[in-house]
Amino acid sequence: MDRESPFIHPTAEVSPLAAIGPGTRVWHQAQIRERASLGANCIVSKGAYVDLDVSVGSNVKIQNGVYVYHGVTVEDGVFLGPGAMLTNDKLPRAINPDGTLKSDADWEVSHTLVKQGASIGAGAVVLPGLTIGAFSLVGAGAVVTRDVPDHGLVYGNPARLHGYVCRCARRLTLDANGTWYCAACDERYSLPPL
Ligand SMILES: CC(C)(COP(=O)(O)OP(=O)(O)OC[C@H]1O[C@@H](n2cnc3c(N)ncnc32)[C@H](O)[C@@H]1OP(=O)(O)O)[C@@H](O)C(=O)NCCC(=O)NCCS
Ligand SMILES: [Zn+2]
Repeated sequence: MDRESPFIHPTAEVSPLAAIGPGTRVWHQAQIRERASLGANCIVSKGAYVDLDVSVGSNVKIQNGVYVYHGVTVEDGVFLGPGAMLTNDKLPRAINPDGTLKSDADWEVSHTLVKQGASIGAGAVVLPGLTIGAFSLVGAGAVVTRDVPDHGLVYGNPARLHGYVCRCARRLTLDANGTWYCAACDERYSLPPL
């Protein structure tokens, strides 16, 4: 395989109107919709779905069965764990109050931003309209109802801030000077108190 050209598995469904960056690989039965764009060197695993107009950066890993809906933006280096769900309609309804089927114009899209280097655990649900901070870590199965700060570690339903993590994803500890510290990387961060 030419490392510069994208690889699209024959069973994947990639719209001709989508833009796929060099070195990006789209695996079995994944679907990439119209006007979605993916940067370089991404991996889109089996059965993932990237909706209309979604923008995905470079070096992003989208694991099996992830759903990224219209209105979501994913920055560089993000990890979306298996079965993670990024939603866009805070008040979903199939029908209008008069009983007629809602059309594409009958609902309000909320915008969610997943910032650089963030990771979202398996099966997590991110509610519409949130910002998931840079290098934050969302635990498996979390239901994220509030913005997550940069380097924030959140988990549970509803997801709560339980600490901070390093760029390497390990938990940071608070030293005597009030600085957050990664013992593995010897890296220090200035972050708000919990
Ligand atoms: C959130 C996470 C990073 C926490 O890891 P950790 O800092 O090592 O935490 P611990 O395992 O020490 O657990 C600390 C506490 O949080 C709880 N906890 C850990 N992860 C949790 C989660 N995802 N949801 C709810 N509670 C969780 C533990 O039960 C424990 O509670 P207790 O003290 O009452 O027993 C990790 O558990 C996680 O979910 N990682 C994501 C894994 C994943 O989805 N990978 C995707 C690729 S396969
Ligand atoms: Zn570290």
